[in-house]
Amino acid sequence: MSIVAPSLLAANFLRLEDECKMINESVADWLHLDVMDGRFVPNISFGIPVIEHVRKATTKICDVHLMIEAPGDLVPAFKKAGADNIIVHWETCPNLHRNIQQIRELGMNPAVAINPHTPVFLLEDILPDLHHVLIMTVNPGFGAQKFIPHSLEKVKQLRKLIDDKKLNVLIEVDGGVTVENAQDLVNAGADVLVAGNTVFSSTDPKETIQKLKAVSR
Ligand code: DX5
Ligand code: ZN
Repeated sequence: MSIVAPSLLAANFLRLEDECKMINESVADWLHLDVMDGRFVPNISFGIPVIEHVRKATTKICDVHLMIEAPGDLVPAFKKAGADNIIVHWETCPNLHRNIQQIRELGMNPAVAINPHTPVFLLEDILPDLHHVLIMTVNPGFGAQKFIPHSLEKVKQLRKLIDDKKLNVLIEVDGGVTVENAQDLVNAGADVLVAGNTVFSSTDPKETIQKLKAVSR
């Protein structure tokens, strides 16, 4: 069984309460929340006030993906808004170890995301401090993009690194995940499947979540 994290970015923002209810009733494990600042990525999504409301409407683990510059400044505010997991980007954090410590000290699960051009080996020294790693399988900033095939190789490399070091770090994949490519991703070593468009554009989102959940190694 995989961990499934529907991405709220693909939801109908006029009906967020209903969308949260649908996810609550599904077998999804986490709710993935994409925060964008228009600087690190060329798009702006939603931020702290929206997450505060979503927190009240969801029963799932809130997995907050910060696609923002200087994320450390805002980490306490995301904790207050109700985040359970905080993902920061390797590319935005020159003092990554400090950011990870801050997230842990605030009682949240720390994770690091890497963009498609960032190699997996750069995570080697920070890996023991992480709850999970998010491998971007598209360029961050937009939903409904096409999966970058080379990502599969990166998932395999990371799986090997984690297993060789006997660590308990989850691998999350984000971008262009479909019911069709989920099995390949899980075979390569992915534990957590983020899915926006695949879930919210399907005729039966709960059934789609169920299909993703059923994918096992
Ligand atoms: C993209 C975001 C993703 C996005 C995925 O920058 O990080 O979480 O919502 O959307 P899909 O699953 O539609 O590719
Ligand atoms: Zn994301």
